[in-house]
Amino acid sequence: MLRRARAFQAEKQIVNAAFVQGDAEQLPFPAGTFDLVSYQCSFHHMPKPQLVLAEMIHVTKPEGRLLIIDHLAPESESKFEIYNRIEVLRDPSHTLTLRLTDFLKLFDEGGLEILRQSLRRRQRSFNNWMLRGGHAPGTKKYIETRRLLEDSMEGYRAGFSPKADGEDIQIVHNEGMFLLVRKGTE
Ligand SMILES: C[S@@+](CC[C@H](N)C(=O)[O-])C[C@H]1O[C@@H](n2cnc3c(N)ncnc32)[C@H](O)[C@@H]1O
Repeated sequence: MLRRARAFQAEKQIVNAAFVQGDAEQLPFPAGTFDLVSYQCSFHHMPKPQLVLAEMIHVTKPEGRLLIIDHLAPESESKFEIYNRIEVLRDPSHTLTLRLTDFLKLFDEGGLEILRQSLRRRQRSFNNWMLRGGHAPGTKKYIETRRLLEDSMEGYRAGFSPKADGEDIQIVHNEGMFLLVRKGTE
C-alpha cells in the first residue's frame, strides 16, 4: 500500500503528502495533530475497533473531523454470522464486518456525532473478488467459499444479495460512509 502510494505521489508530483507506517491501535502522532482523520475499508480487519476509533479521536484536533468508510454486515444475527464466515474463509486477515448498529454504538460511546452519512451498494463479481484475494476458480479456497455462498443463496441467508451470472455470481457489499465530529463541537 505504501509503495503504491509513494509511486502515485511521485507520478503526480504531489508535494503536500507524507506516508508513515504505524499501528492503527497505537498511532505514531501526538494528540490533536490533524484536522481530518479518515479510515477506509479497514475496520473489518481490526480485532479491537473501539481501540482504533479511540486512537483516531486522540490524534484529531478538538474540532476536527473523522471520516470512516467501511462495509456493513447484515443486521440479522444468523445472516451476520454466515456473512462473516464467508469473508473470513476468503481472507483470514478479515476479523469482523460490523453492522450499521454496531458503528452507531461505537460512535456514540466514543463521544462522536454524525454530521453526514451515506450508504451505497457496491455490486461486484464473485470471481473477481476471489481473484483479488488470490484465489482463482478451481482452487480449494475458491471452491469452499463458493460452496458456502451458494448454500446461502436460497433466502439470501448471508446477505450479499447474490445473483447467478453464468459461471459467475454477482454479489453486493453494502458500504457506509460517516463524517463525524466530537459531540457538542458543531
Ligand atoms: C482492506 S485494506 C484497505 C486499505 C485502504 N484503506 C483502502 O481503502 O484501499 C486493509 C488495510 O489495513 C491494514 N492493517 C491491518 N491491520 C492494521 C493495523 N493494526 N494497523 C494499521 N493497518 C493495518 C492492512 O495492511 C491493509 O493494508
